[in-house]
Amino acid sequence: MNRVVSLGALCLLACAACDNGFLTQQGYEPAQPIAFSHALHAGELKMNCQYCHFGASQSRHAGVPPASVCMGCHTQVKPGSPEIQKLTKAVAAGVPIEWVRVHRLPDFAWFSHQNHVAAEVACQTCHGPVETMARVQQHETMTMGFCLDCHRKTLAEPQPGKKLAPPTDCSACHR
Ligand code: HEC
Ligand code: HEC
Ligand code: HEC
Ligand code: HEC
Ligand code: HEC
Repeated sequence: MNRVVSLGALCLLACAACDNGFLTQQGYEPAQPIAFSHALHAGELKMNCQYCHFGASQSRHAGVPPASVCMGCHTQVKPGSPEIQKLTKAVAAGVPIEWVRVHRLPDFAWFSHQNHVAAEVACQTCHGPVETMARVQQHETMTMGFCLDCHRKTLAEPQPGKKLAPPTDCSACHR
């Protein structure tokens, strides 16, 4: 919580008219160690999100795929490219690629992918049109209000044939 408070204080000092995006990291788009493009792999090549993010349906974290998933293709596809060479070298050395994390909730908030995937909430609802992004960007605010708006809306307007009961009590997300 200290970080949240000091960030807020810093923001007040630094800019009188700072917008929500700064505090929430909406729009955060860090450079990655390898120029991996979702626009190419998930867009043009139409690869399924869960082919790589296979953790999403089974666990709290969607996870980022190990390089072995990439090498399934890239031992053959463009092995000479400098970007692919970075992959090949990391695999040979047995070191993981240090992808820069884009989305991160504060430690006091709890989220799991598993139940959302089971409830068929599309990845894009929370992550935006990732299949058009050459570099991943945080598309939504990911604030408590963002979570609660959907939970309340789902409760108020139940979809036919679905019995979804997303929680609105504090302890569901603050454990
Ligand atoms: C070929 C494998 C692959 C496919 C297919 C893929 N991703 Fe990814 N994804 C990655 C890798 C590698 C990263 C880490 C590097 C980066 O951020 O670009 C990543 C990062 C992400 C992140 C950011 C994670 C963070 O740090 O917060 C999101 C969100 C994401 N992917 C969503 C999706 C969605 C949605 C789809 C389908 C439309 C998809 N991905 C398809 C490999 C893949
Ligand atoms: C299903 C096969 C497949 C998988 C799996 C795959 N890729 Fe690719 N990748 C491709 C194809 C096809 C291209 C386009 C090659 C071309 O431009 O001719 C490509 C292009 C790339 C490029 C651009 C290379 C260049 O120099 O133009 C990078 C970087 C890349 N992939 C990284 C990754 C990473 C990292 C992963 C794992 C997270 C991954 N790929 C998984 C098929 C795949
Ligand atoms: C209901 C909103 C929501 C949906 C739907 C959702 N995500 Fe996420 N995603 C998040 C949040 C929130 C985080 C940050 C989690 C944290 O910090 O603990 C996240 C983090 C991630 C990450 C970073 C690594 C990790 O696992 O924490 C990846 C990759 C990712 N999501 C991919 C996906 C993919 C692929 C789908 C669809 C199969 C998906 N997400 C569906 C909200 C969502
Ligand atoms: C559906 C999930 C969810 C529920 C239910 C929920 N919260 Fe949160 N809460 C979050 C998330 C995610 C954050 C972190 C993002 C943020 O700060 O907005 C957060 C942040 C907070 C913060 C940090 C300050 C802030 O606003 O940034 C407080 C305090 C808080 N919640 C209190 C509560 C209380 C009290 C309740 C019950 C009335 C509650 N929350 C219910 C998800 C939830
Ligand atoms: C677009 C709609 C939507 C958004 C946005 C959303 N949720 Fe949910 N959430 C759901 C649905 C639907 C369920 C499943 C309810 C069920 O299975 O009965 C759910 C279930 C949950 C649950 C209970 C199941 C579990 O995983 O323990 C928690 C906790 C939760 N959400 C937290 C969050 C948090 C935290 C966020 C924001 C980062 C968030 N949700 C954003 C729709 C959403």
